[in-house]
Amino acid sequence: MSRITELIDKLEKNRILSKEELSEIISEHTPETDEYLFARARTVRERVYGKDVYIRGLIEFTNYCRNDCLYCGIRRSAEKAERYRLNEEQILECCETGYGLGFRTFVLQGGEDGFYSDDKIVSIVSLIKAKYPDCAVTLSIGEKSRGSYERYRQAGADRYLLRHETADPVHYGKLHPKGLTLENRMRCLSDLKELGFQTGCGFMVGSPYQTAENLAGDLLYIHRLQPQMVGIGPFIPHHDTPFANEMAGTLETTLLMLGLTRLIVPNVLLPATTALGTIHPKGREMGILAGANVVMPNLSPTDVRKKYLLYDNKICTGDEAAECISCLGRRMESIGYKLVSARGDCKKY
Ligand code: 5AD
Ligand code: FES
Repeated sequence: MSRITELIDKLEKNRILSKEELSEIISEHTPETDEYLFARARTVRERVYGKDVYIRGLIEFTNYCRNDCLYCGIRRSAEKAERYRLNEEQILECCETGYGLGFRTFVLQGGEDGFYSDDKIVSIVSLIKAKYPDCAVTLSIGEKSRGSYERYRQAGADRYLLRHETADPVHYGKLHPKGLTLENRMRCLSDLKELGFQTGCGFMVGSPYQTAENLAGDLLYIHRLQPQMVGIGPFIPHHDTPFANEMAGTLETTLLMLGLTRLIVPNVLLPATTALGTIHPKGREMGILAGANVVMPNLSPTDVRKKYLLYDNKICTGDEAAECISCLGRRMESIGYKLVSARGDCKKY
């Protein structure tokens, strides 16, 4: 037993470690201790979710955004981004296609686009829930007031994704323009949880200026919030942003963070993200083997997929969702897991 594997055992048992201990794992892990961690994470995950992998149909319905996050390819200042919006009818068509493919969760993701007033969001959510009462609707549309979140929840939205991006206010300030604060992000996340959303926070691995201590802080925040979902993917530079020349996050550190997150919140819904699949051809499979249990194929109309470019070289821009899903199914079977058609709610354990 090495010092690191002892810390991993202690994390599995207590669900948390000190910031120093977490930083130690993050800076001193090796391929051998990673294997040890991933095996523990798989056991924990299989105790709660078995070998099932949940699918979510991602509908990227607008790439207009009033924000200007320095890392993001659809930030307001990205003048070359070709902007688009889907109307209600187009969104419902995505759901129809998705339903036929077996999706029972639809994730409506978009930039912070004032065009979609609360009334419009409420109307879209209500329409989807009326037409597909057996499906979950997840919103991922950014920072709003508690009152807005309350209205979405009343309209039937089940889940909400809002990555915290980094739990360190100073680091947060280096990734975002003035006016966006970690404090408000965290306020949003506690409101969402209190309102009864299955709530997802998360962060990028290898974002500019990130340290091992920052990542340890992210894990501590996750432990504190006890979210039902956590989105973790590598930072990937986008050519038309201030971070164009920064390094991408690594596969190794991303997998490490997935494994550690599984031990901290055993029943968490944890996607093997598109960004992970983008930096390595087997990235999503490796994510599942490190403790993830969700994949989120793209259900957006094919012609807009290449316009929703948060980072360069995003995968799946050419494939039809239909092809993606059967080929993804085979990929999961090749590693002993199985894609299931289910809402895939967060399980009590
Ligand atoms: N690389 C990786 N992930 C990114 N995101 C935004 N820009 C990038 C990028 N360049 C992530 C953010 C955001 C989510 C929708 O996408 O974490 O919360
Ligand atoms: Fe903030 Fe895209 S502008 S994540």
